[in-house]
Amino acid sequence: APADDALTGVHVVVTAGGTREPLDPVRYLGNRSSGKQGYAIADAAARRGAKVTLISTSTLPTPAGVDLVTVETALQLQEQVTAVRADVVVMAAAVADFRPAEAAGTKIKKTHDPADPDAAPTVRLVRNPDILAELVRQRGDCARPVLVGFAAETGDEHGDLLSYARAKLERKGCDLLVANQVGDGLTFGQDHTTVHLLRRGSPEVTTVGPATKAEVAAALWDAVIPLLHTS
Ligand code: C5P
Repeated sequence: APADDALTGVHVVVTAGGTREPLDPVRYLGNRSSGKQGYAIADAAARRGAKVTLISTSTLPTPAGVDLVTVETALQLQEQVTAVRADVVVMAAAVADFRPAEAAGTKIKKTHDPADPDAAPTVRLVRNPDILAELVRQRGDCARPVLVGFAAETGDEHGDLLSYARAKLERKGCDLLVANQVGDGLTFGQDHTTVHLLRRGSPEVTTVGPATKAEVAAALWDAVIPLLHTS
């Protein structure tokens, strides 16, 4: 087992939960991410001695010794991640790829068009930034922060989970990718999960599970700690 102080002196940022992109003051576009895996990762890092900043949309109880920053949208999450000088960033949050082009200032009415009381509004979406890709770009040739991404993949007739994950790792340019199979009620909000850890530039895959989210978190830090020493 790793020493409890393996992350002492290391500043870790973990993002967790699904972003909520407002449509109006009472409605948002969201997703099914519970935040549980990110919280387990933050908890495990704190137990190993790290200074931990958890940037979250979730209302789960904050793990002991973790600094919580609450956000709602992808843009807020990006602003907060970018504001920290971290040694490791773990992007466990499910960041919305799109947001409504504008959020109405007042609640959208059922009969929003007086000329046609049966009409339904059209929501125009715009792209959110890819926060992880932007962190990779900002890092440039620096060794820090070590960057960890997540990939929720289903696999389909064009390829399997691992080949999609490998392609995503190389495309995004992060150091470690945690790939998990989703769909059919798997993973989101569940207490057990199977994940595959892929390192950039290495063909090896570490498969963990079926495991608790705490066990996945431990395996993640076991994989990150050597990266902190080699760079
Ligand atoms: O490309 P995909 O969305 O599957 O990549 C998932 C990874 O990228 C996760 O680590 C997620 O936190 C991150 N991501 C991001 N910004 C986005 C979308 C995803 O940082 N707009």
